[in-house]
Amino acid sequence: MATAPSTMEPVRPAFGTVLAEQMAVAVYRDGKWQPHELRATGTIPMHPGAHVLHYASTCFEGFKAYRWADGSINVFRMDRHIERMRQSARSLVLPEPDAAQLAAMVRATIDANRAAVPEAPGALYLRPLLIGTTPNIGAAATPATEAMLIVLVSPVWDYFAGGAKPLRILVDDVNTRSAAHTGRVKTGGNYAAALGPTLEARRRFKTDQVLFCPGGEVQETGAANFVLIRDKRLLTRSLDSSFLHGVTRDSLLTLARDEGFTVEERVFKVPEMLEWAKAGEAALSGTAAVLAGVGTLVYREQEYTVGNGQIGPITQALRAKLVAIQQGRVSDRHGWIRRV
Ligand code: PLP
Ligand code: COI
Repeated sequence: MATAPSTMEPVRPAFGTVLAEQMAVAVYRDGKWQPHELRATGTIPMHPGAHVLHYASTCFEGFKAYRWADGSINVFRMDRHIERMRQSARSLVLPEPDAAQLAAMVRATIDANRAAVPEAPGALYLRPLLIGTTPNIGAAATPATEAMLIVLVSPVWDYFAGGAKPLRILVDDVNTRSAAHTGRVKTGGNYAAALGPTLEARRRFKTDQVLFCPGGEVQETGAANFVLIRDKRLLTRSLDSSFLHGVTRDSLLTLARDEGFTVEERVFKVPEMLEWAKAGEAALSGTAAVLAGVGTLVYREQEYTVGNGQIGPITQALRAKLVAIQQGRVSDRHGWIRRV
């Protein structure tokens, strides 16, 4: 039953629109990372010839810290996200962040903004960002030798406005969201490539996201991975360089296996997805999306209802299991949580 929002309810800003007061910053210069420092979140000096502004030498991460009922603050799978950031940096030939320094920056930033960590169901979104800063506008084929690493944090709630509403997804077998070898790199250019098709789909079909399926192979959406669920089976694309290797995806597959699901990681095409969807469930997985149920797929101007069009019961149960671990209500058997 819909209830009118209480006047006592705290305001929940749209995802990512509010940044906490302190950020951590480190620069790479003279062949090494310099010690980081905490600063007021604000502008940074930037030369207009900076490598990132011309040649998009940038990558980022996104993960979350949770305030548990006992007041402690706990980060979910920090090591995995730091490792992915280092992998992204290597792919883009950017100076690779030192894992211990980046972990220390994340911890210091959380610590400096402890009061900004929301209670459940909110979380503190952690956003490390790496940019190439060398001022050289001729360096299209030369990597940046100077760089800046910044950790921003933001109190967040739901990513998809509307909360637990089944999503409408456009199935796009024409466009790609990245070059084939950079899909697994968490770099701004991939999001830039997805933006136009996503807005066009929203305008034409009122969809929330685009599911990119180049050559008919189901890949991922602009901001999350994609999974199909049916009869204790879970189907998702096998890892390759064409899409982001989601930490949430990995966590959900682990939880599903724990529950006795058969997990299929393989290439599959649009017709098989539409067949599964008739009597199954579909969902988007990601740090921001968590596990968001899909109600409708739109493909070649035709609508396909997923299951009964509502968020599926297995989707809800898997999401609840994951969130319970993240929020400290179920014990963490996999060593995913780090207290800060
Ligand atoms: N795919 C894309 C394009 C994303 O932006 C994200 C979000 O980070 C994901 C997948 C899911 O990754 P993760 O679960 O590590 O947040
Ligand atoms: C995340 O889930 O962390 C993402 O990066 C999605 C983002 C585009 C908000």
